[in-house]
Amino acid sequence: MKIVQTFAEARELAGGRVGFVPTMGYLHEGHISLVDAARRESDTVTVSIFVNPLQFAPSEDLASYPRDLDRDVALVEAAGADIVFAPPLAEMYPSDPLTRVTVSDVTETMEGAIRPGHFDGVATVVAKLFAGIAPDAAYFGRKDAQQLVTVRRMTADLSFPIHIVGSPIVRESDGLALSSRNTYLNRDERIAARSLSTGMFAVAAAVRGGERSGTVLEQIAAGPVDAEPGIDLDYATLADQESAATIDALDRPAFLAVAARVGRTRLLDNVHIDPDGGDWVPDEGIRLDTTSILYREA
Ligand code: PAF
Repeated sequence: MKIVQTFAEARELAGGRVGFVPTMGYLHEGHISLVDAARRESDTVTVSIFVNPLQFAPSEDLASYPRDLDRDVALVEAAGADIVFAPPLAEMYPSDPLTRVTVSDVTETMEGAIRPGHFDGVATVVAKLFAGIAPDAAYFGRKDAQQLVTVRRMTADLSFPIHIVGSPIVRESDGLALSSRNTYLNRDERIAARSLSTGMFAVAAAVRGGERSGTVLEQIAAGPVDAEPGIDLDYATLADQESAATIDALDRPAFLAVAARVGRTRLLDNVHIDPDGGDWVPDEGIRLDTTSILYREA
């Protein structure tokens, strides 16, 4: 496996069908599942590791975001990647970018409403990575559901010839969706954080039991979080998978997304719900049966 710092090197080393996994590092099994999916479908697997300042508001955790390149390199090498693209800031942003990518409408609800400018930062860096790496396919986790909607729309609108693949959420053994930010949680916060996935599993059970009302499903998702002291719900929303617009009833491919704050940490979770032969099937994701590599040092 090669570690490179420039787009030119990343492109030169790649051959055949290129599968690309963009990350901000501090990798966990969710990222590794994306590398696995890319490995199955590609000749070259390129993983980028770059903490993108453009997608953090000044009040957010850019400075404290966990970083450990040696650890990440060892993990992606073990997962069978071919190239790690770990650019310095000057490669990604040689000067303050005057060009930003804004994806309207799909970024207005949920995370977009709470984190103004966040999705401009995401869309801008992903567009730059797509232009610089020139992959055939790019792999994103479904945990960041609205990000996936935004990237799909940006890719279509800008005619990037790149196939976007969304992969199921990977969860810790008690259900908490994996996130590099889980490392911020202290013992009490970690217990409170579990309420998000408790709500998600209850939503999945309700959908399987025939519930179709957006309001009822949102209440089911919010219930365990509202009942838990020390965690504050930002939203519980049933949204359209294509537009990320809020919907009243489960009548099209959808996701029920929640976001909450525990101490200084914001956490997201969701259940994607897809039609299958006249029925609606919730995807609860994949649960680890051991402690996550997230807690493993280099
Ligand atoms: O999902 C992430 O880790 C980031 O938002 C991404 C897509 C790598 C862009 O910085």
